Amino acid sequence: MARFITVASGKGGVGKTTAAVNLATALAALGKKAAVIDANVTTPHVGISVGVAHEKTLNDFLKGEAAFEEIAYNHLLGFRVIPAALSLDNLPGVDFSRLEELKTKFDDDEIVLIDSAPCFGKEGLAAIKLGDEIIFVTEPYHISVADVRRAGLIANMLNKKILGVIVNNALKENYEMSTTEIAALTNMDVIGYLESDSNHLKGLAVKAPLVAYNRALPNSQEYLRIAASLAGVPYIPEKRKRRFWGMFSFLRRRTAV
Ligand SMILES: Nc1ncnc2c1ncn2[C@@H]1O[C@H](COP(=O)(O)OP(=O)(O)OP(=O)(O)O)[C@@H](O)[C@H]1O
Ligand SMILES: [Mg+2]
Repeated sequence: MARFITVASGKGGVGKTTAAVNLATALAALGKKAAVIDANVTTPHVGISVGVAHEKTLNDFLKGEAAFEEIAYNHLLGFRVIPAALSLDNLPGVDFSRLEELKTKFDDDEIVLIDSAPCFGKEGLAAIKLGDEIIFVTEPYHISVADVRRAGLIANMLNKKILGVIVNNALKENYEMSTTEIAALTNMDVIGYLESDSNHLKGLAVKAPLVAYNRALPNSQEYLRIAASLAGVPYIPEKRKRRFWGMFSFLRRRTAV
């Protein structure tokens, strides 16, 4: 049975989709079977972020007009994607109560990440309800962190297991909230800390999550570390791996002669 982890926030635009697709990429790189569901049906971004061209979507499934096999796409990066429709024409008739049925279809996956809409309207709530575990994403500012605190109360009321909060887009300026302050205000563990890095946007332009765009970057390494912790496997930093293989460089020199 797959683990269903919702990536949620109160405030919009804080990095949920970025976290979901990078964690899926990282989990796949660690040899785990992962999938991402775009449960942000009104403003879907997963498909565009990873370059999945899709005919049938989650919307068709939720309308009862497509089977699961028609809406689950195998991505080249090794995970599965369930995209939502880009066209507004595909919104009428979408029935969020069918998300529970969708959940029964993931026999083949170990971790399913659910990319949520922001806020706690019908859509955001449906995504929180769908996950058994929740990861919150915030920027290190009070308006965003206060929303996570409120979202956490809702998740607690729904008996969800809160894995913690990922701090994204940090500039490391002294006007930002510290991880200690964020943990105290949200009453959650800070499980990740990502700096603001324009490489995310460069990756987005070529539809590559940062972990695939450049695995050595600090934020990619941070996503790999978080993914390893989620999957319960050891995290080996890229630098240490290089140092390890570097010890065998004399072999390369010898064979080159
Ligand atoms: N650490 C970062 N550094 C720089 N840019 C980032 C970082 N994380 C995310 N971004 C960029 O910020 C924008 C918003 O990120 P994203 O779409 O993941 O947010 P979201 O929370 O899913 O938004 P929404 O609430 O609209 O669904 C995107 O253009 C993304 O590439
Ligand atoms: Mg999003």
